[in-house]
Formats: sequence, C-alpha cells, structure tokens
Amino acid sequence: MTEPLVLGLESSCDETGVGIVRGHTLLANEVASSVDLHVRFGGVVPEVASRAHLSALIPTIERAAEKAEIDLADVDAIAVTAGPGLMGALVVGLASAKALAAYLGKPLYGVNHLVGHVAVDLLDHGALPMPSIALLVSGGHTSLLHVEDIATKITEIGATIDDAAGEAYDKVARILGLSYPGGPVIDKLAQEGDPNAIRFPRGLTARHDLEKHRYDFSFSGLKTAVARWVEQRRLDGGHIPVADVAASFQESVCDVLTAKTAAAAQEYGVGTILLGGGVAANSRLRTLLEERANAVGIELRRPRPGLCTDNGAMIAAVASEVIRAGIEPSGLDISAHSGLPV
Ligand code: KG4
Ligand code: ZN
Repeated sequence: MTEPLVLGLESSCDETGVGIVRGHTLLANEVASSVDLHVRFGGVVPEVASRAHLSALIPTIERAAEKAEIDLADVDAIAVTAGPGLMGALVVGLASAKALAAYLGKPLYGVNHLVGHVAVDLLDHGALPMPSIALLVSGGHTSLLHVEDIATKITEIGATIDDAAGEAYDKVARILGLSYPGGPVIDKLAQEGDPNAIRFPRGLTARHDLEKHRYDFSFSGLKTAVARWVEQRRLDGGHIPVADVAASFQESVCDVLTAKTAAAAQEYGVGTILLGGGVAANSRLRTLLEERANAVGIELRRPRPGLCTDNGAMIAAVASEVIRAGIEPSGLDISAHSGLPV
C-alpha cells in the first residue's frame, strides 16, 4: 500500500505553515511569517497574528500544492494544529482545515504542536527510534520528554518552572537592545564573543535543586543576572561587550539543557535523543548536545534548522504516524486548546 498523502496546516503563533508529506517524505513546506508586523511591539500581538493567518492561509496552501505538484483533491488526510498556541490564531487554521476536509471529503486529524516539533526529524532522517528522550525547546515551552511511541505515548519528565528557553533568548536580546526574535540574533552575535567571559548562573543545577528538579529548567534567574550585569556596567560607565554577554548567556542556557538531556537519556536507558523546537536551530545547542550525546554513546537526531521553527510539515508528519498507528480521525467538531499539554 502506498503511504498516505497528508496536508498539514500550522497557525499556532506567527507563522502560517503549510506542509505536504507522503509517509516520511517531505514534498513541500511553505511558511509565511508575520514576524515583521510584530517587531515594533517586541513580541507577537495575537490579534495581528490571527488576521495575518487569515490572509496568508489560502495563498500558502496554493503555493505548497504547486511545489509538491499535487492536486488538493488527491490528499488522503488533512492535519491541523489543535494546540497549544494563541487561541485566535489556532481557530483560523482549524476553521480552514475543517472547511477543506468537508469540501474534499477527507479525514481530519487535530495535532499537538509540541509533538510536531519532536516528530519532524523523521522527515529528515527517517523513522524515529523508540524509546527516546526528547528535548523540546521553543518560544513557549521547554520540556524533557520520554517518548515511547510518537503517536500514543509521550510522558513529560521535566519542564521549565518559569521562562521557556526561547523566551529567555528573546528577553535577553531586548536587554541588550537587539531586535525580535532574539534567538537567531544572539546565536549569530555569540559567534564573535567569548562564552567564558562572564560566568552566569546555571539554573536548577545545585545539588539541593537536583533532588526536587532533576529534569526541570529555570531561566528567569539567568535573565535577571544578565540584566543586573548590564545595568552595573552602565552605572560604572563602562562599555558593554555585547557579543561576550550574548555568548556567555548562551553558554549557560546550552550547558544546562544539554547536561540534563544527556543525564535523562542515560538514566532512562534510551539509545537516542531527539531535539526539536525553534531553539533547536541554535548552533551552539546543536554542537554541544552532539558532543555530550557522543561522549555517552547516544545517538542525536536533530532536524535541519529550517524544520526546527514552526511549520506545517511537522503537523503533517505527526498525522502520518497517527494514521500508521491506526488511530481514528478527529472529526469535524474538534476545538482548539490554547493550553494543550503534550
Ligand atoms: O518553535 P518556535 O518557532 O515557536 C514556538 O512554538 O514558540 O520557537 C520560536 C523561538 C523564539 O523564542 C526564537 O527566538 C527561538 O525560537 N529561536 C532561536 C533560534 N531560532 C529561533 N533561539 C536560539 N537560537 C536560534 N538560532
Ligand atoms: Zn513551535
């Protein structure tokens, strides 16, 4: 039997994503971002994002179908992000997916956005080895997951107790007077800085923290430490070595993320670590996690940077696995859940 042809729609935040996959093969992945409309506010404005999805969805679907060289009538299933995300933004994607499913007479699958980030590497490197430990790092979430079956059994074993890793990047960028979103800017700038210039705190790594928060993260104290350091330098009338601050901040984030992920993989006895989410595009995180995984003989699966940030292909990839597992479609009455857990 040929693999199902799946159309995936993503609209949980500021990217309108449309992906088309056949099984594990990526045929098209078009993304229209409204990020330029949010830059002057220093963050995503929900109402602006919803309106942008509304105008971008149909042209993005048309572009994806053209790239994949398919007729929409030929798709076997439609997948859409059901949550978590901005309510108004999610509703635009869901309403469009329902209309398409009803019009084309195809089954509809509501997909968890976070599972999309974890699953997307199967489009780059094939079936995901199970069980595995996944590090999910995005603008809204930072979690360690024990993945026993990508379609049916994912358990969160740790998460941030305050800011998400991407949120910390965005906030530190603002402290340093850099543009939004801060992650890619700090990543680039850090390459010119010294990661050991300033020793910033490593959240939840002290022995007494590890007892209660073995696999949890905290980035809010780090952000405050960066703000204090910069403020003190300004009061002293000194120059701010922005690249050194960026590199030192990044080193703290990546050190904690990779140390806890490698420890979890060893303690759960898995052979593979999966990396996903917008922050997974970070060059230092990718290198350091690879070094630490190699050091303990664990395979690291990391999607190409372009598949790490929000996109529709990751949503279609999850639906492919759900169909493979023989799970029933969602039905046209599914609703959006802004706080949907993994
Ligand atoms: O997964 P994503 O595209 O959207 C959410 O679901 O949140 O992640 C967006 C986050 C932003 O905070 C952005 O600053 C961060 O990912 N990000 C990065 C990089 N590229 C995007 N953080 C660090 N380094 C990067 N290269
Ligand atoms: Zn995301």
